[in-house]
Amino acid sequence: MTCPFIKTSVLNGVATVEIARPEKKNALTAAMYIAMAEALQAAQDDGSVRALLITGQPGIFTSGNDIEDFMSRPPGQGSDAEGSPVFRFLRALALFEKPVVAAVTGAAIGVGTTLLLHCDFVYVSDEARLAMPFVSLGLVPEFASSLLVPQLMGPRRAAEKLLLGDPFTGEQAVECGIANAVLPAGELLNHARRVAERFNHLPPGAVRDAKALMRAPQRELVMQTIRTEGEIFSSRLRSPEAMEAFQAFFQKRRPDFSRFT
Ligand code: COA
Repeated sequence: MTCPFIKTSVLNGVATVEIARPEKKNALTAAMYIAMAEALQAAQDDGSVRALLITGQPGIFTSGNDIEDFMSRPPGQGSDAEGSPVFRFLRALALFEKPVVAAVTGAAIGVGTTLLLHCDFVYVSDEARLAMPFVSLGLVPEFASSLLVPQLMGPRRAAEKLLLGDPFTGEQAVECGIANAVLPAGELLNHARRVAERFNHLPPGAVRDAKALMRAPQRELVMQTIRTEGEIFSSRLRSPEAMEAFQAFFQKRRPDFSRFT
C-alpha cells in the first residue's frame, strides 16, 4: 500500500523510511503504520539491503499517534488487536532482523520515542525533544516501554518520563541510554547514513545472528509486554479520561482531570 506520507528508498545497501507529514508534525495514521510495516517487510526480504534507516523531517521526527485517527478508528481489542495497523508496525520493527538506525530530526513524542527503544543505533539532532506523555493523555506506555525504559535508565528516571511525562533533550536521551549521540541538525542524516552504510562492509549473516542473540533473552517478554500494554492502551483510548485529554489537545487548552477518581 502506498502512502504519500511515508517515503521509502533503497540506496547503497540502506533502505530508508522517511516520515513526511510535516503539516501535522508527522503524526502517524493507520495508513502510515501499514505503509511502514510493509516497507520494513520489503527491506527484510530485499537481499541487497544491509541496514534500515528511519528518519523524519527537519525539526520533527514524529509527534506520535495521530490523535484524531486514533479517536475515530481505535485499534481493536483481543485477537483483533494483532491485525491492527499499529500492531503490524510494532511487530515488524521489534522483530526486524537487520540493523536499524534512527535519525531523530527534532521532536519525538509518544511512539516517536518508544520506537527508538527497538532501534540498534539512535542519533538525535541538537534540537531534538523527546517525551512519552501517555499518562497525561489518559493512556498507558506502549511498545514495551513499560519494560524497556525502567531497564534502560532505572525506575526513578523512568517514573519521571513515563508517569509524569517529562520531556527531555537529546543530551539527556544520550545520558539515559536511549540515544548514541547528539549531532548538529545539519550533520545528523549524513552521520546516521554513514553508520548504516558500514554494514555494507560487514558479513550480513554474522550481523543478523549477533543481533538475534542480543535480542533473544527478552524477545518473548518484549512481545508479550507489547500485547499486554496494547490491551490496556486500547481500552483506555475509549475512557473518559482519554476523551478529556484529546478534546483538550484539539481545543488547545489544559485538560481538567479533577472530576475523575
Ligand atoms: N495527532 C494529531 N494531530 C497532531 C498531532 C498528533 N499527535 N501532533 C500535532 N498535530 C497537529 C495539530 O493538531 C496541528 O494541526 P492544525 O494545524 O490543524 O491545528 C498541527 O499538527 C501542528 O501542531 P501544533 O501543535 O500546532 O505544533 P507545535 O509546533 O505547536 O507543537 C508538538 C508540536 C509535536 C509539540 C505538538 O503538536 C504536540 O504536542 N502534539 C501531540 C503529541 C502527542 O501527545 N503525541 C502522543 C500521541 S499518543
